[in-house]
Amino acid sequence: MRTIEATADKLEMVCAETPAGPVSLVVFGASGDLAHRKLYPSLYALYRRNLLAGGFYLLGCGRAEFSDTQFRDTIRQSLKSANAAEPGEYDAFLAHFYYVSGSYEEFAFYSRISQKLMALDEKYRLGGCRIFYLSLPPFLYPVVADKLSQSRMACPGRGGPTQDVRLIVEKPFGHDLDSAKQLNDQLGGCFDESQIYRIDHYLGKETVQNLLVFRFANSIFEPLWNRDFIDHVQITIAESVGVEHRAGYYDTTGALRDMFQNHMLQMVSLMAMEPPAAFEAESVRDEKAKLLRCIRPFSSEDMNTAIIVGQYGFGKIDGAAVPGYLQEEGVREDSQTETFVAAKLAVENWRWKGVPFYLRTGKRLARKLTEIVIAFKQVPHSMFAAAGLDFLEANQLRFQIQPEEGMYLSLQAKRPGSKLCMSGLELAVDYQRVFETKMPEAYQRLLLDCMTGDQMLFARQDSILLSWQLLQPILDYWSQQDKNLFVYPAGTSDIKPAEEWIKKDGRKWRPL
Ligand code: BG6
Repeated sequence: MRTIEATADKLEMVCAETPAGPVSLVVFGASGDLAHRKLYPSLYALYRRNLLAGGFYLLGCGRAEFSDTQFRDTIRQSLKSANAAEPGEYDAFLAHFYYVSGSYEEFAFYSRISQKLMALDEKYRLGGCRIFYLSLPPFLYPVVADKLSQSRMACPGRGGPTQDVRLIVEKPFGHDLDSAKQLNDQLGGCFDESQIYRIDHYLGKETVQNLLVFRFANSIFEPLWNRDFIDHVQITIAESVGVEHRAGYYDTTGALRDMFQNHMLQMVSLMAMEPPAAFEAESVRDEKAKLLRCIRPFSSEDMNTAIIVGQYGFGKIDGAAVPGYLQEEGVREDSQTETFVAAKLAVENWRWKGVPFYLRTGKRLARKLTEIVIAFKQVPHSMFAAAGLDFLEANQLRFQIQPEEGMYLSLQAKRPGSKLCMSGLELAVDYQRVFETKMPEAYQRLLLDCMTGDQMLFARQDSILLSWQLLQPILDYWSQQDKNLFVYPAGTSDIKPAEEWIKKDGRKWRPL
C-alpha cells in the first residue's frame, strides 16, 4: 500500500500551556527506580522549558540515608545517563533538591518532614501548592496517606495546612474490586477526591490526548463515529519486552490487571465516549465513566468465548533466544499468570450497539506497538463487481500511539493508466515528521497538570471501580476454573489462538 504523507507547512498553531505556580514537591520513594527514570528527567525538562516557577523545590523522602548533596549526586548521575550534558549543567536545577530519611511507619519521620517543609517554605517564600508524590509500593499508600493526615499535612479543610495540597499515586489502584474500594476509602479518609491525582501514564501520551482533539475538533468524523459506519474497533498494546526485573510483581498480577484494567480501558473510554460538555476535567471524566458503565459485564458463558489468555514460552527476539515466562527468574514454576489477553467488549448504548471492541495486549511479542484501529464497514455494494472487483477492502482509520506516533487513513483510489485499476492508499500523518518535534515523556504532561490543578488526565475513583467491576467476574472465574492458558513462542507476530478466535467473528487482527 502506498503512503501519502501530510506536511505541516501551512499549519496554524493554536497552543495553550499554563506554567506551574509556586510549588513544593514531596517525593516518597525518592531514591527508587520510577523517580529516577521518569520523575526527575521530566521535571528537568519542565525546568528547561521555563514551566516551573523559580520558587519550586523538591523534598525527597525515603528509607535510604542521604545528605542533600548525596541525593543531588544520585539524580545528577541518572540525568547524565539519560542526556549528554555539559559539566555543571544540572547544578542550578539540583540546587532545588533536598532530602529527609526515615521509616514510613514511624511518626517521627513525618514530624521531621513537616519541620523541613516549614524551613524550606520560608527559604523559598512559598505558600502555594504542595504535592505529595507516592512513588512507593501500593501497600504503603494508606500508611503514608494516614500519617500525612495525622500529622496535619494532608487536608486544608480538615485542620490541615492552609495551602493547596495534592496527592499523586501510581497504579496499581487495587488488585481487584474489593481492594480497589478499600484503597479508595483509605485515601478518601485522608484526602478529598479533588486532591487525588491517580496516574495512568497512557493518558499523558500525546497521541492518546490527540484522541480528544481528533474527535472533537473535527466535524467530519463525528457523524461516522457509530454503529452505522463502524464495523468494529481493535485496540492493541504489544510489547517485545518480557517481565524484566519485575517478576515478583508481575507473577501475582498478569496482563489483565497490569494493562487491561487501566491503560486499555482508558483508551476505550476516550475513543468511544460521548462528546464532553467542555474541555475540562469533570466533563471529560464524567463521559469516560458513563462509557465504562455501558460495557456489558462478562457472563460465565463469555469466559470461553469473549476472552482468551496466553503465556509466552521460549522463543527469539531480534534473533536472540529468550527464555519462556516460566523460566524467568522469580516466576513460580507452575505459574498460570497470563502474559497475553484478548477480549471482546460490547458497549451497550445507542451509539455502539452491535460494534465489537477487540482488545489485545501481550508481552514478548514481535515488536512494541500500541494502536487503535477503527475498521469502517465495507461499501454496501460494489459497482465494480463486473470488473472482478466485488471485494473492496474497507477503510480503516488507525491511531498509532507508539512507537512512531501517527494517524493513518486507508482508502481505495484509481491508479492512472488502465480503465479500472484500484490501489489501496494510506493517508499518513507521522507526528514527529509533521510537527518536527520529539514526543515529550508522558510524565511531563502529568506533572505539569497536577501542578496547575488540572485533573483531566488522571483517573477518577468511580472509573477505577467501574473498570474493576467489569473485570471482577473474570477474576472470580479464574480463581475457580481453569483459565485455558495457551502458550505462544516469545517474539511471535502471529498468535494462532488469537487469530482463530477473531476469525470466528469473520474478522482478522491487523498484523503486528
Ligand atoms: C506499565 C506496565 O503500566 O506499562 C508494564 O506495568 C508495561 O508492564 C508498561 O510494560 C508499558 O508502558 P509503555 O509506556 O512502555 O507502553
